[in-house]
Amino acid sequence: MTQTDDRTGTGLALFPPAFRWGVATAAYQIEGAAAEDGRTPSIWDTFSRTPGRVHLGQSGDVACDHYHRYAEDVALMKGLGVDTYRFSVSWPRIKPDGTGPVNPRGLDFYDRLVDTLLAVGIEPMATLYHWDLPQTLEDRGGWTVRETAHHFVAYAEAVYDRLGDRVRTWTTLNEPWCSAFLGYGTRDQAPGRAEPASAFLAAHHLLLGHGLAARALRAAGAREVSVTVNLTPVSPRDPQDRHDVAAARLVDGLHNRIFLDPIVKGHYPADMLEQTARFTGLDHILDGDEEVIGAPIDFLGINYYAPTHVAAKVGTPSSDRFPGTEGVEHLDPGLPVTAMGWPVEADGLRRLLVRLARDYPSTPLMITENGAAYTDSAEDGRVADAERVDYLRTHLLAAHQAIQEGVDLRGYLAWSLMDNFEWAYGYDKRFGLVHVDYDTQTRIPKDSALWYSGVIARNGI
Ligand code: FCB
Repeated sequence: MTQTDDRTGTGLALFPPAFRWGVATAAYQIEGAAAEDGRTPSIWDTFSRTPGRVHLGQSGDVACDHYHRYAEDVALMKGLGVDTYRFSVSWPRIKPDGTGPVNPRGLDFYDRLVDTLLAVGIEPMATLYHWDLPQTLEDRGGWTVRETAHHFVAYAEAVYDRLGDRVRTWTTLNEPWCSAFLGYGTRDQAPGRAEPASAFLAAHHLLLGHGLAARALRAAGAREVSVTVNLTPVSPRDPQDRHDVAAARLVDGLHNRIFLDPIVKGHYPADMLEQTARFTGLDHILDGDEEVIGAPIDFLGINYYAPTHVAAKVGTPSSDRFPGTEGVEHLDPGLPVTAMGWPVEADGLRRLLVRLARDYPSTPLMITENGAAYTDSAEDGRVADAERVDYLRTHLLAAHQAIQEGVDLRGYLAWSLMDNFEWAYGYDKRFGLVHVDYDTQTRIPKDSALWYSGVIARNGI
C-alpha cells in the first residue's frame, strides 16, 4: 500500500507526504494602495481607467486593501493550515519607472509580508510577473520589444536581492499566454492592443524574460525556480476525424505547446514557428534565445480551470484569442459551468497532468492555481458555497488520480485565498475561499475554506 493509495481502510485519498498545500493571489488583484509608497501605474491601472474595459469601470485602487491588512490575511492562511502562499510582487512598486532605481519602500512591504509568513510557518512563494507591467515600459513598447525582457531581469534581481535569503521558491511569470494573447492580441486584458502580430512578439519576449531571469535567479543563489503556465486539454469533437484532430492540434499549439516546448525542451515546435512567421516573421527570435528559454526549472507551475473542445468547420473566422485559427470552431461541451461560464470538467485536469508527464517527462509539476467563481452570498456570517466545495473536491480527486497514474505532482495551490479584483470582471466574480465584503473589508471564511483546511489537515480527501 502506498502513501497515495486510497485503499487505506480509512476511505481517504491520501496525497504524498511532502505534498505542498497552499493558496494563491496576485498583487494587483488584492493589494490596493495603488499610489502609495512610490508605486506608479501599471498597464492594469491604465486599462481599468479606459472606459468600457473593466466591469463597471472598477479598478484595483483599493481591492482587498491587503497592502494594509496583510497581517490579518496571513492569520487567515494560518487558520486554513496552508504551508505555502503564492503571491506576486508588483513591478511598479519596486521600480517605479520600470527600469532605473529601486524603490526601497516598495520592497519593504514584501519584506514585512515574508517575515509575517515565516513567523507562522508558511512558506512564501514569489511570482515576479503577474501581469502588472509598469506603464512606463508599455509606453516604450511593452512586451513587444526585446528590452522589456532585460528590464524584467534587472527587476527580478532587485527583488531577489532583498528577499532571496528568505524566499526559497521563485516563479518568473504567471500565464504568459494571457499576457501575450489576451493582452496584446485582444482587448480583453491589459494593455488591450488587439494586434495579433504583437501577441506573437510578446510571447517570445515574455519567454525570453523568463529564461534570462531564471538564469539570473539561479546565479544569485535561488534554490527553486519555476514558471507558471495556464494550460487546457484540447479535445477534438471526433477523434476519428482528421480535420477535427488537426484543429485541436493547432489550438493546443497556440495555447500550450508554444510555451511548454521552449520552456521544457528548449525549442519551439515547428508548427508554432510557422504560425508565428505568418504574423511577424521570425527575425525577433535570435540565435541562442531558445536555449536561454530552456534554462532548467525545478518544477512547472500549472494553472487549470477548464477544458477546451473544438471542431473543424469550413468558413469559421479565426478567434482573436488564437490568431490564425480560421476554420476552427470552439464548441460548448454541454457541461455545467461556473459563474465565469467556464465548463467544469475535473477529468480534464487528470488528462492534462498525465499528458504533461508523458510529453514532458522528468519535469515535476505543481498546480499553482485551480478554483472556481460562483455567486456566493454571506448570510449570518456564513457563506455556504457547496458548488465550490464540489469543484475543489472533484479536481483534487482528479489530481490524486493523476498521481496514482505516475504523475510527479508536488503540490496544489487553490485560487484564491480571498475574493478579489478579477481583472476585466472587476469585483463581480468571486473566486475566494474567503469572502470579502468590499465596503467594510470584512473577511469571512466560506464553507470551502473550512472544507479545504480539513483536507490539508488530513493530507487527503
Ligand atoms: C488566472 C489568473 C488569476 C485569476 C484566475 C481566475 O488566469 O492567473 O489571476 O484571475 O485566472
